[in-house]
Amino acid sequence: MYRDTPHAVRLKDYQPPEFLIDRVDLHFELDPDRTLVESILQLRRNPAATRGDGSLVLHGEQLDLEAIEIDGHPLTGSEFGVDQDSLTLHRIPDRFSLLTRVRIHPSLNTALEGLYQSGDMLCTQCEAEGFRRITYFLDRPDVMARFTTTLVADKARFPVLLSNGNPIEARDLDGGRHLVRWEDPFPKPSYLFALIAGDLSAIEDRFTTASGREVMLKIFVEPQNVDKCDHAMRSLKKAMRWDEERFGREYDLDIFMIVAVSHFNMGAMENKGLNVFNDKFVLARPDTATDVDFDGIESVIAHEYFHNWTGNRITCRDWFQLSLKEGFTVYRDQEFSADVGSRGVKRISDVRLLRAHQFSEDAGPMAHPVRPDSYIEINNFYTATVYQKGAEVVRMQANLLGPEAFRRATDLYFERHDGQAVTTEDFVRCMEDASGCDLTQFRRWYEQAGTPELTAEGEFDAETGVYTLSVRQFTPPTPGQPEKSPFHVPLAIGLLGADGEDLPLRLEGESEVPRAGTRVLELRKEEERFRFVGLSAKPVPSLLRAFPAPVKLRFEQSDEDLMFLMAHDSDGFNRWDAAQTLMQRLLLTLVRDPDHVVPDRFCDAFRSALLDTAGDQALLAEVLTLPTEGYLADQMDVVDVDGIHRAHAVLERRIGECLRADLLGVYRANAGDGSPYAFTPQAVGRRAIRNLALHYLMQAPDAEILGLCQDQFANGDNMTDVMAALSLLANHGGTEGKAALEAFYRRWSKESLVIDKWFAVQASCSREDALNQVLHLMEHPDFSLRNPNRVRSLIGVFCNANQVRFHAPDGGGYRFLADRVLELDPLNPQIASRLLKSMIRWRRFDRVRQSLMCAELHRILDTEELSKDVYEVASKALE
Ligand code: ARG
Ligand code: ZN
Repeated sequence: MYRDTPHAVRLKDYQPPEFLIDRVDLHFELDPDRTLVESILQLRRNPAATRGDGSLVLHGEQLDLEAIEIDGHPLTGSEFGVDQDSLTLHRIPDRFSLLTRVRIHPSLNTALEGLYQSGDMLCTQCEAEGFRRITYFLDRPDVMARFTTTLVADKARFPVLLSNGNPIEARDLDGGRHLVRWEDPFPKPSYLFALIAGDLSAIEDRFTTASGREVMLKIFVEPQNVDKCDHAMRSLKKAMRWDEERFGREYDLDIFMIVAVSHFNMGAMENKGLNVFNDKFVLARPDTATDVDFDGIESVIAHEYFHNWTGNRITCRDWFQLSLKEGFTVYRDQEFSADVGSRGVKRISDVRLLRAHQFSEDAGPMAHPVRPDSYIEINNFYTATVYQKGAEVVRMQANLLGPEAFRRATDLYFERHDGQAVTTEDFVRCMEDASGCDLTQFRRWYEQAGTPELTAEGEFDAETGVYTLSVRQFTPPTPGQPEKSPFHVPLAIGLLGADGEDLPLRLEGESEVPRAGTRVLELRKEEERFRFVGLSAKPVPSLLRAFPAPVKLRFEQSDEDLMFLMAHDSDGFNRWDAAQTLMQRLLLTLVRDPDHVVPDRFCDAFRSALLDTAGDQALLAEVLTLPTEGYLADQMDVVDVDGIHRAHAVLERRIGECLRADLLGVYRANAGDGSPYAFTPQAVGRRAIRNLALHYLMQAPDAEILGLCQDQFANGDNMTDVMAALSLLANHGGTEGKAALEAFYRRWSKESLVIDKWFAVQASCSREDALNQVLHLMEHPDFSLRNPNRVRSLIGVFCNANQVRFHAPDGGGYRFLADRVLELDPLNPQIASRLLKSMIRWRRFDRVRQSLMCAELHRILDTEELSKDVYEVASKALE
């Protein structure tokens, strides 16, 4: 908590550590109220560092120091100093052993960073800087040490005691206690340390690696959840095999463990050999989890597993390099999901996410480069930019190199840097060294924030048969970066002939006629022209196929051309994108002109797409889903909150009315065949299109439709269908909505992840009294500010997924958010500052809303003892 203005940490100030730590021996006497931590560190001077003033500063927060010794000699008061966040040793030898004994208090730890209590178990979260709340240490990722961890606890209360690496000893002690010792043979930074103590059940499996080693796999959960682990285990085994085949990466310990925890600030954490998860990304049964949940579990399990190489074996030199592990690992999990599911649908959902979160982050006051150059609180930088844009930056390099060279480059990276803490620069150098590509200009993607805007113009000369495509790039200013240099942008494009087929793309001066299909052009200058020759008629261009770069595109394309692309483009992504652009245009017209009539040809195009049963149902559902209200807001200079909501409702209702018969047909044709739930791309696609049809039908329901929806709610055999119906009924309101919500609660009151859905569905309900409902639900006995999943499902969903009610013109939503942020900040600053991010883009709104949001931000900033987390977000929002 801060009185003085917290200071920023800067990349340019990086210095290698003065000391290295070779070995760490930790001994825990675990108790929720009072845990004893004894630590013995083997330290030695770092030959690569410049010598300081002869003292050594270790990180440490909220530790009660009880003993301190160097090489077995207790230190006297003049030999060391302790303050709020550090321990300073005044005179030290070049090589020594340091013993400290501290007390910590897990049950009082509401920040969920360091060692804390979740339900009846004890667990840890150390990334980024949580280890310093466990013991005094050089808590920075470039200090990599070998850890041995001894855990002692009451055996009845904590029968399971886990830490990183392999178990090497287990025995009973007096007084009903027991001891388990773990040893991790791989040097690691402290942020990858983990321990777990609890009364847990496990499911077990085995995996034989490519080189024939047997690995034991275990997933630990609270006993009542042991029937919800199968999907996670299947996902893990798939991910392990995929990483061998695609990246040549084998697992390296004899045991791999996953633990599901119900109080967790983020998604999951890749601690060496002991991944700790938000239980939301482990637990699933067809009747408790939706397809989206199954999907999330598969990709998060894979993500954390993939970190074993991209993050753990090779880690980050400092936290500015966070995207080195996160961007690359997200790229890897995206590719994994594309390979085991449907590639086209995966790309669409990734781009949807990027556009919704990263583009808006890039356009706001917290915009930062993929490799930031300063931060006040590193926890504020686990962002869409570092993760999702970072993945796009890796993807662009993979595409520029091509699959063979990219694989050579990643092989080189793993070989050259195994066991090291490195930088994004080291990564890019491997890309260059293995391929011969020059990525000098490309590096700007790591350094410059902001989303480049491309403006394209096409011109066809019928006489010469030349189509000229001109592309200009411009990147708007972002905080601290008023001017940008041009990026190196890969542009994948195609040209379609009148029959809808791809044409060969021959650039002027080329003698050979290339095969018809997609070509990747490279844009490097501010403006470039590409001349395609040998065309007999004006082609329809399909630009940015499969979304080759994280850019925005301005290209005046007629509605006719867009409909043509929507029907014929060989690139599935661009068929979707054309449909999105059409719908966006129509919606924005409806926002500006409420009397505008939805044209029949829109309904016709929608109908023919809907009835095209040849393709992938999941892809179809994506094509036919309207852009969200939040996304539409991002397309306006001044957000018209109510206009957007009205336009969205009008169009959805119109679709429901004019396509009633067709939608009903699709709904009936895609009923299950009675076989049990399966999480296959086909079955997921079928449920998606069916529930989308029901969604449109429910916008103006008659008794028949309402009956269908109630029937699906009552008799659906899987949570995907039940939840879809519940949300429609809740939005419909009335006695039907109320009854459904009550029945759902009664049925699922014991399953906390399902109850999160119950809170979320009400928080996202666009009915006028939504805020009152939310306030009312804050009083519900199942609500708690101490459970992050609960906070996200009620407060987070209301502020982020209920635009029209959160931004109510009376400012009630803003006041509500600010109150919650101030209430949460002393408990859990990470969650408080995450929530606050939903209010930082106040400049996009009208005067009235601007001043209301501003007032709340000032109220927060004027509060004494704010955390660094919230201080940074609020102060940057007002800059
Ligand atoms: N490394 C974790 C992951 O795989 C996330 C850790 C987030 N930490 C934080 N302080 N927000 O994505
Ligand atoms: Zn990660």
